[in-house]
Amino acid sequence: MAETPVTIHGTRAPQGLVDLLLACHDRIRRFVALARDAATRPDVPADQVVEACARVERYFREALPLHVADEEQSVEPRLRGRSPEVDHALDAMAQEHRAHEAAVAALLDAAAAVRPDPGDAARKTTLAHAAEALREDFLEHLALEEAVLFPAIRRLPADLQSTVVDELRARRRAEPPWYRLVVGDPLLVADPFAEALGRFRALYTPGSPARMLTRLETIGGLHCRAVAYLSPRATELARELGGEPTAPPTGADLVLHIP
Ligand SMILES: [Fe+2]
Ligand SMILES: [Fe+2]
Repeated sequence: MAETPVTIHGTRAPQGLVDLLLACHDRIRRFVALARDAATRPDVPADQVVEACARVERYFREALPLHVADEEQSVEPRLRGRSPEVDHALDAMAQEHRAHEAAVAALLDAAAAVRPDPGDAARKTTLAHAAEALREDFLEHLALEEAVLFPAIRRLPADLQSTVVDELRARRRAEPPWYRLVVGDPLLVADPFAEALGRFRALYTPGSPARMLTRLETIGGLHCRAVAYLSPRATELARELGGEPTAPPTGADLVLHIP
């Protein structure tokens, strides 16, 4: 009998504010479960473990911060002061968001460690523990928001709820991130940018809006490393090379490369 693959199924896009927030909570629970399944299910082939880890990393690096911003920047100001119970829940919510950061970072590290060697039992055990710790962290957090904050949101005037929905959508339409990656050590390699630039020019043809910027960056005034920044239109290569999302780079020392 064919085993069920580890996967996340899409759901129909909801419209109301609380529906949108509940859909985010559903995704949080399902991506934590995906991490756990990738780490613990012996029937899952290595390529699916790698894919699951990449999806888990992408979700917790890119999507979860948007949900946190929704709650802290769009929901909290509209609910604050409506009742002592709601205010108490908002305080707990913000504290827990900060407290989750270490567990999320641990999960990202654990998933990234499994990807290059998906058969390594010790790395998968670390991922399983990280997923379980995060599941426990989110259990009460999501339940409190759903029990206290979401009913309070439903009591807000309809036009105010619509305004917040617009804010949530605008946050997701924002320009996707640039990516930063360390491509080499200029002390060890004659041209540390050569490989990344070669991949960039091979993947993006002339006329593409993709951009790569490079420069040498000093760490602590001593060690120097070669760093490349890839524009949002070069996200495919950036992810392939293990780049981390970052703000658009600035500085006169950047060298611009166009395919
Ligand atoms: Fe939250
Ligand atoms: Fe939430």
